Amino acid sequence: MRKELLFESGKNLDPSDWRAIRAQGHRMLDDILDYIENIRERPVWQPIPDSVRARFREVVPTGPTDLATVHDEFLRHILPFATGNTHPGFMGWVHGGGNVPGMLAEMLAAGLNANLGGRDHVPIQVEQQITHWLRQLFDFPSSASGLFVTGSSMANLLGVLVARTRELGIEVRRKGIASTHKHLIAYASAAAHGCIAQAMDLSGLGIEALRRIPTNDHHQINLDALNAAIAADRDAGLTPFLLIGMAGTVDTGAIDELAELAGIARREKIWFHIDGAFGALAIMAPDIAPLLAGIQQADSIALDFHKWAQVPYDAGFILVRDGALHRDTFASPAAYLRRETRGLAAGGLWPCDFGPDLSRGFRALKTWFTFKVFGTDALGAMISRTCELARYLETKVITSRKLELLAPVTLNVVCFRYRGEDPDRLNAKIVADLHESGISAPSTTIIGNRLAIRAAIVNHRTEPRDIDALVKAVEKFGVAATRSCAA
Ligand SMILES: Cc1ncc(COP(=O)(O)O)c(C=O)c1O
Repeated sequence: MRKELLFESGKNLDPSDWRAIRAQGHRMLDDILDYIENIRERPVWQPIPDSVRARFREVVPTGPTDLATVHDEFLRHILPFATGNTHPGFMGWVHGGGNVPGMLAEMLAAGLNANLGGRDHVPIQVEQQITHWLRQLFDFPSSASGLFVTGSSMANLLGVLVARTRELGIEVRRKGIASTHKHLIAYASAAAHGCIAQAMDLSGLGIEALRRIPTNDHHQINLDALNAAIAADRDAGLTPFLLIGMAGTVDTGAIDELAELAGIARREKIWFHIDGAFGALAIMAPDIAPLLAGIQQADSIALDFHKWAQVPYDAGFILVRDGALHRDTFASPAAYLRRETRGLAAGGLWPCDFGPDLSRGFRALKTWFTFKVFGTDALGAMISRTCELARYLETKVITSRKLELLAPVTLNVVCFRYRGEDPDRLNAKIVADLHESGISAPSTTIIGNRLAIRAAIVNHRTEPRDIDALVKAVEKFGVAATRSCAA
């Protein structure tokens, strides 16, 4: 065995030298804290050199490598080429920036190595406490259930499945949807995230059973069009079963008129699910919470702690008003999962009864640490600040002769473009140039058939100077891109 190897072959996988592993562990912790502390000095993102890509095609290691060497490889070949969403200049898609207590909690969770499928241990209580906190935030009853999942794509799928059980009864789980004469139809705005259509696909109901309702000038679901679509479907003998409201659309951050949607769902006796992937937790921000009025009436809410709440990836969540129905949708008793009244196999609520996963990690811990360390006031203030920054960017766009605003700014998302010939090509080039410059990383989307530069200010580290740098770089790359597009 090489001297520096901290693990002894032929034995268990614990270190042979605990003092040495402690020192190495502290170095690793220091390195990642240095990375976060000095993140601003790095490029947001940088292209991956071919030589680095090639390293990740090497064959499976059959022998050992000492931990320090592997960590060094991480520092040189993985860390510099990550997405960059910890960086204050990252404004693409909807990525949270993470936070240090959350990261440390993730390390503790890995040390405990708890499996949150079920059984009687406090990590399950931690997850239940998060459910309890969300019940408080959204005014849900104590009978509401909650579950950590990977992200809102999964949470929305679970919401669709619970709504399906509600409409077709628990029998659908045994007999499948082919056994029913009902043709279920769901409704969401045309601005809904693609994972909603995917949830319809995965639940066996089919993408075409999702009505994508046009939006109004504020990018919210058009209520008249929605009512008309429901009426037409009923006339055609179809069965409306699910209305999905958006609390923060992915493209523009628009929030549907949730209270009105709740009224429609009640009148139609259909399930009211809200995709609040990033917007729902704005309930913690007193100036934004009023925009979410009506969210309290949802039957289920999908949300992500890893977006605006800055919990390290991944930490999606589903909250369901009718906890019993939620359980009925997923619980699958098995002899090897027998519940007892005493011992480790006791514990009333096993999370595996509320979703498809049996083995589950301790996502709740990093969320619990984040909420305990910062509190909802500070998290809410941070969310408000990102919206202020979006308004600052909006003003800069409106006052620039070179830029054009493409959508109203409701929350923290600003869609704009550089004016010029062939603007789609021009702006796509500008965004790629921005990424490669390492200055800023917005993404793109299509607004009314026009390609937009889309800046989603989600990161708690973003400051006005990052907005200034984005605008300056867009204008600079705009001039260069105009020249090269014309050439
Ligand atoms: C509105 C909306 N819904 C759903 C999702 C999917 O969430 P996740 O990426 O956590 O699966 C996103 C992601 O950005 C989103 O913005």
